[in-house]
Order: sequence, then C-alpha cells, then structure tokens
Amino acid sequence: MVNSISVFSGNSNPDLCQKICDMIKVKPAPALISRFSDGEVRVKIEENVRGKDVFVVQSTSSPVNENLMELLIMIDALRRASAKRITAVIPYFGYARQDRKDQPRVPITAKLVANLIDNAGANRVLTMDLHAGQIQGFFDIPVDNLYAVNAFLDYSSIKSVNSADLVVVSPDVGGIKIARAYAKRLGAGLAIVDKRRVSPDSTEAMHILGEVDGKIALIVDDIIATGSSLIEGARALKKFGAKKVYAAISHGVLSKDAADRVENSDIDELLITDSIALSEEKKRSKIKVISVASLFAEAIQRIHLEKSISILFDFVPQ
Ligand code: R5P
Repeated sequence: MVNSISVFSGNSNPDLCQKICDMIKVKPAPALISRFSDGEVRVKIEENVRGKDVFVVQSTSSPVNENLMELLIMIDALRRASAKRITAVIPYFGYARQDRKDQPRVPITAKLVANLIDNAGANRVLTMDLHAGQIQGFFDIPVDNLYAVNAFLDYSSIKSVNSADLVVVSPDVGGIKIARAYAKRLGAGLAIVDKRRVSPDSTEAMHILGEVDGKIALIVDDIIATGSSLIEGARALKKFGAKKVYAAISHGVLSKDAADRVENSDIDELLITDSIALSEEKKRSKIKVISVASLFAEAIQRIHLEKSISILFDFVPQ
C-alpha cells in the first residue's frame, strides 16, 4: 500500500492526520502549506503523486475560510500534478448549517462549498456526521458520510449506564432521527427538547417531550458551537429531574466562550471527537475528546483497496 497511497494534511488538524497515518502505516506525505506575504495560500506538493491514490485530510473548521481555501488549493495542486484519484477527507464539513433557503435573500453555503470542492478537482469526499444527510446530494461525486456513534458508545461513562436508566435526548426537533437511532442502539428511552432560537447565538429550552425524571440523560447532536442548545437543554433536563446529563456531540466547534460555559453548566460530561482539533485554551475538565482516527483509517484503507465501506455504516439514522 505504501507506494500507491499518499495522505496529505492541511493545517486544520495535523494530529488527526498523523494518527490516521500511523494506523495505515504510512508517513504523512510532504507538502508545503504556508502563506504568501499578502496572506494568499501557498502550496507546494513535495513528492511525485503521478498516478497515485491521494487523500487530503482537512476539516473546514475555524479559521473556516483559511482552511477551506487550503483544501481547495491543495486539491488543485494535486490534480495538476496528475494524481490518479483525490479524496477530500473532511472530518468536519463546515458551512453545512446553511443547507436550505429558509429566509428570503440568504445563501445555501453547503451547496456552494460542495460546488467549490467538486470544481477544484476532488474525485470523492469522506466525511463524518454531516449536519444533514442530504448534503451528500449537493456533490456530483461520491460522498461517504461516517458516524461517530461507535466511538462514543465505547466510552466508559456511557457503557457503564444500565439502558433502563438511560434516556437519549435530542436538543431540538431537527436532531430527532439521530437521537432515535442512538436510543434504538442503546435500548434506551427517547426525549426531545423543545427549543426556540432567540438569536443566532442563543436558544431557550421551552419543554421536554418524554420521560426524564430520575434518568441519566445522553444528549446527542452533530455540532456544539456557542453551546447554547446544549447548555439550555441540560438545564431543562435537570429541572425536570434528570440525575446526570452526558452529551455526545460529534464536532466540537466550541466558538466564543463555549468551553467555559460548558464547564459551568449542568452538563456532567461532554464527549466530542477529534474531527476538530481542540486547542489548549479550550481544554476543560468536563470536555473529553474521543478519537475517530481508526474510523477514518479503516475507511481510507477500504476506499484505497476498492472494498465496500458499508460495514462502517451499521448506524443510519432514519
Ligand atoms: C442545529 O441544528 C445543530 O444541530 C446544533 O444543535 C447547533 O448548531 C448547535 O449550536 P449552538 O451550540 O450554537 O447552540
């Protein structure tokens, strides 16, 4: 495998790329990814990729525009260097939350970004817990959307809870499919927070639909950004009698002071994945990072060997 596969990393998450490479038993491929004096992205691929199966690991997390441009420019460089196939490995696909025109005169950024990646020259995309499954259809190339669920459910705090004591909670109506799938997998109850977004940065939990009194609650969601949805949901769950509140959120965007707000909230433990690198400033005792490197390593090896990856999709929210 070593000669025909190259795994490149952008600057968004080199630690995750390194872990993936260790598992595949290859070295991260050499590339210069820096900036010109005026801030433009400068890329130079420093190995021959002619005829190779190439993977570029880059989350489009903050700084979102910088990381997105790096990804596009790396793909362009690899295409012009005659790579045989380029897979954009995007553990966290940003700009996904604007996925429909829900008000007049707003963009659909998820579609725009999909077009940009397509047009840059990617041949396929490998991602995880897309904000909405239908974003796969925004691309004209194959997209594999992995799920972090197995990594979360392997975690000791969750594994040790008796299913009869557990209730899986969706922090809003939009997340119900994924919560239902977790509840089914765990044999646990299901509840929903009736949330209202007051402004782009704050939400209010109105009611809880479902039985949570005396239970251990597990809130599941794709993104924690400001933390408002989660913190408000946890507050309401404790108010209605939940004994403990855990959260399993795939992508730790953790914008603004979200890490501090989580630390001072009713949440007992927040699990996130390493789809987005957690900076030192955002590390808190309640925030635990679960690696999805093995999931991506397995998927990359299967794609490279033209093997089915449906074995990794034993969890499809419906
Ligand atoms: C909403 O549809 C998403 O699934 C998340 O619930 C939301 O993006 C979280 O945002 P915040 O942490 O700012 O409340």
